[in-house]
Amino acid sequence: MSDATNDESPAGQAAPASPPAAAPDAPGSNPPAEVDLGRRRFFRQFAAEVIHSAAQAAGAAGALQRAASDAAGALLNPESAFGLNEPMPPVNPMIAATPAPAGGTGLPGPSAPQANPALGESRGFRTAFRMDEDRIVFIDQRKLPGALVEYPCADGGEVAIAIKEMVVRGAPALGQAAAYGLALTAGHSRSRPPSERRALLRGAATALRQSRPTAVNIAWAVDRMLARFERLGDLAEDGEVVANVLRGEADAICAEATRDHGLLAGHGLAVLPAAPDRELRLLTHCNTGPLACGQFGTALGVVQAAWSANRRLEIFVDETRPYLQGARLTAWELVQAGVPYTLIADSAAGSLLASGRIDAVLVGADRIAANGDTANKIGTYPLAVLAARHLVPFYVCAPLSSVDLATLEGSTIPIELRSEDEIFQISQIRIAPRFGKAWNPAFDVTPAELITAIVTEEGVLRAPFGSTLAAAVAAKAEHEAAAHLAQFADRGRQPAAGEAGPVPAAEVVG
Ligand code: MRU
Repeated sequence: MSDATNDESPAGQAAPASPPAAAPDAPGSNPPAEVDLGRRRFFRQFAAEVIHSAAQAAGAAGALQRAASDAAGALLNPESAFGLNEPMPPVNPMIAATPAPAGGTGLPGPSAPQANPALGESRGFRTAFRMDEDRIVFIDQRKLPGALVEYPCADGGEVAIAIKEMVVRGAPALGQAAAYGLALTAGHSRSRPPSERRALLRGAATALRQSRPTAVNIAWAVDRMLARFERLGDLAEDGEVVANVLRGEADAICAEATRDHGLLAGHGLAVLPAAPDRELRLLTHCNTGPLACGQFGTALGVVQAAWSANRRLEIFVDETRPYLQGARLTAWELVQAGVPYTLIADSAAGSLLASGRIDAVLVGADRIAANGDTANKIGTYPLAVLAARHLVPFYVCAPLSSVDLATLEGSTIPIELRSEDEIFQISQIRIAPRFGKAWNPAFDVTPAELITAIVTEEGVLRAPFGSTLAAAVAAKAEHEAAAHLAQFADRGRQPAAGEAGPVPAAEVVG
């Protein structure tokens, strides 16, 4: 399933025959050769990443340290990380990270995050975490862009705390972090009695599920891990088997995300409007890069693909009040990748869109309901309204793990309410008197009719989203099952119990 139509307006609306009066230069049509070349280049690079991650999923010793998290392991010299000292020259292609050092960093527990030692000059996007022996080591996103520090977690309970505290955030990264959290819990409970191990896994799963309610990727990953555990049957008595199988499942989730985000980025690249002889101007909200996704990113993954394809870009970045994921994290990621950007206050988006200077709005998703209604960072809905008003295409970029077919429409998506302090203060500096109350929903819901298309790994989905989302989810399940069987057919044997392939949706326990 894919679709590569350029130059379109929000759901069902016809693009204007001529650009809005204020538009200095409207999108024209792209020479196909340019797009093809760019896509080829992107996919060549992407394929190398996937091969890397496939090694990881297959459980090759030590591969995890190098694979999907290799870019995270290539932590920067903190001074060049956020461009305070000197501007970083543009770097294309997008990923120029160096591998993590062998042997890990030997950092202490989560209560004592440390500044990361400079590991040499390296540029490109970085992923949110890496695996270090029997810990998951996050980039502490609360500290960015001021400091680049790591935050290790030993098990699912610690990962749940890290998620709650926003050390790691962004829906796809949260799913992967939750999966590794459970795998670590299984690893640490190898020699416990089976009933105790089961209780520890169940406890960690509950903590993870409750850590943040809106991003469905957490529940998706936890359910998949528990379903894998339940499928072990009698083998669940063996702590070694449980630890290996759950680590393998977490690796698979991570490797699939790498592959899926790369595919998504390629599909997104194909629908970007053309902008001959000038920068393509994209507006983005929150942070949707590798920090939020573990690998390429969703909306920012499309930006990476475009950058890698040598498209000239100007990315307008919403600062994303109140938590400032755009200003702190997206800007940081773009600086490192050398992609030019312009930071705006969220409230400037209306004027910017009215000026005709934006070719498309790209956002991510924390949960997409069965009808296409999409929960994403607070402020996404007003952007969608503005995009519709100004006939600018509005793309939601999300992997299918963010689609929740069991939630029929947006009004039933749980919306996380966060602390009033995030409104009253910025980085612990009080910016408003603390007498009244503050209302701080972390997400809003954009109705499906305001969405031009949903860009997924299965292609670009269009209205009616009820049927296109269901078809994409079904197609993906079919591809996964076929790929799994092919893998064993190649090896000339049947899968053993612990290896039994994609867990059927009906078996995924909630
Ligand atoms: O509260 P956050 O920072 O976890 O919110 C993140 C977002 O809203 C992202 O846009 C979303 O997770 C989608 S893409 C990574």
